[in-house]
Amino acid sequence: MSSRFTGFVAFALIVAGAAVAGATAQDAADAEAKAAEKQALALGAKVWKDKALGPKGRTCMKCHTNPKKPELYLNGVNEKYPRYDRNAGRVITLQEKFVQMQERSLKAKKTLPLGDERWTALELYLKSLK
Ligand code: HEC
Repeated sequence: MSSRFTGFVAFALIVAGAAVAGATAQDAADAEAKAAEKQALALGAKVWKDKALGPKGRTCMKCHTNPKKPELYLNGVNEKYPRYDRNAGRVITLQEKFVQMQERSLKAKKTLPLGDERWTALELYLKSLK
């Protein structure tokens, strides 16, 4: 075997090895993202019907899935924010609206902070509604 040929084979093996390692790292990253989003989606679904968000045992879902009030369905709501909110008197984000609802509609004295993983999970859940 010529040393040039051996050198070529070694080079080819390194390139192939790097490609496989790259693909594996990408697959692992994809799997991690998928698992994290699946987990957040499940948490969001729980927040949606969580009676512990306020002292009266009310849930977000109760008012927002009432067939008699389809105008309150939240399908597609993620697209609408940030927007002007009359109660706030200014432009707010979707999470700020969640906090406002927890305060006004669920009568919570202490609200979840903006950026709480439960609000973010709820955003993801609402985004998944068709
Ligand atoms: C007692 C009934 C009731 C409950 C409980 C309730 N909401 Fe609402 N929600 C409303 C009503 C009525 C409106 C429309 C008036 C307004 O914006 O304040 C609204 C509006 C919203 C909007 C804005 C929709 C849009 O098109 O801009 C979002 C988002 C929302 N609610 C989320 C929630 C979340 C999250 C919870 C739980 C933390 C919740 N709501 C609990 C009655 C309720």
